[in-house]
Amino acid sequence: MRRIVLALCAGFVLLALWALRAHAGGSQEAVERGAYLVSIGSCNDCHTPWTLTDKGPAPDFSRLLSGHPEGMRLPPPPAMAPGPWGFIGALSMTAWAGPWGVSFTSNLTPDPETGIGAWSEDTFIRALRTGKHLGGGRDILPPMPWEWVGKMTDEDLKAVFAYLKSIKPIRNRVPDPLPPAPPAAAAKSAS
Ligand code: HEC
Repeated sequence: MRRIVLALCAGFVLLALWALRAHAGGSQEAVERGAYLVSIGSCNDCHTPWTLTDKGPAPDFSRLLSGHPEGMRLPPPPAMAPGPWGFIGALSMTAWAGPWGVSFTSNLTPDPETGIGAWSEDTFIRALRTGKHLGGGRDILPPMPWEWVGKMTDEDLKAVFAYLKSIKPIRNRVPDPLPPAPPAAAAKSAS
């Protein structure tokens, strides 16, 4: 009798672990596919901060996909003269100024407060399909290529999400975007 109870308990524990794993975002296979999609989808170009190394600028993988570093204070972007040059990026590849104001790349690690740790899979997919922050808020700003990233199949987006949930959580609060300079100020600084 005791054996049966023990076997049943073990069964329940295994079932619970399996359910937790499914809830946490999927199989090892999905995580591996997600890692591949993130690497060819160029997410590291913008979401992993770059630093200057002896071999030139390179992504700092110790801060993998953690977005614009909160401690990196930037002066206001230089005014752009009217003309064909339209936007400017920081050397970290995590801050971008243009007609939309200044955008900072998001923390895609599973930190619950500053990353996507508290996001559901549905929120993630909706954000990338609609171009709305958290799937229903303000517009997601350039240069985030959500229109193209959002063209992945549901299965692929789920795999990307599963991979992002599996990487090291990094606590890094990315600043909110800054609005464009008012036209008067822009005109004054351009003259
Ligand atoms: C060319 C730069 C660039 C690339 C490449 C890029 N991103 Fe982004 N991403 C950004 C910027 C900038 C933001 C912040 C935009 C904002 O604050 O509105 C952002 C925001 C996001 C967000 C947050 C959306 C929200 O609801 O606020 C997610 C999720 C995201 N990116 C996922 C990805 C994934 C996945 C990839 C790779 C497949 C990727 N990004 C590639 C620049 C980029």
